[in-house]
Amino acid sequence: MEKVELKEIQFPNSHRKIELHTGLDEEGREKVAKQLSSVLADSYLLMLKTHYYHWNVRGTLFKSLHDLTEEQYTELFEAIDDVAERIRALGFEAPGTFSVFNKISSVKEAKGGLSDLEMSADLLETHENLILKLRETLNIADEIGDEVTVDMMVARLTVHEKSAWMLRSFIER
Ligand SMILES: [Fe+2]
Repeated sequence: MEKVELKEIQFPNSHRKIELHTGLDEEGREKVAKQLSSVLADSYLLMLKTHYYHWNVRGTLFKSLHDLTEEQYTELFEAIDDVAERIRALGFEAPGTFSVFNKISSVKEAKGGLSDLEMSADLLETHENLILKLRETLNIADEIGDEVTVDMMVARLTVHEKSAWMLRSFIER
């Protein structure tokens, strides 16, 4: 799947748009909406990967990883909805197809046949990459004065840093 630069994302614009009067200019809102689209795509694909490992985990970590992944994909499902709705509140269309997600996401697809430890390491790496994207998004939102997105990014960082710590603890000896 061919990847695209975030700045190349084209939001569908066929419907009649009502101008926003929220104190954030269109250019800034579009920049944040593109970042959030990428966060949305990564979060969705991380949720799918987490679910996949939940189903297929085996080995000594079975019970712990099976339960932790359930908590994590359940939390992600709720969070993804909030991110998509934030894109809408900024005045843009939220992406929601696998072809677009694949183009704008940096999440590597889950591999089959991994051991419990390999699954933990892969999930950890995916959470850590998303953490970097969340920080970048937070900074861009801060630059344009979008406190609501800043606040949302702080909340997402809190969850993903905790998830990363838990997954890291499965691997550390
Ligand atoms: Fe289950």
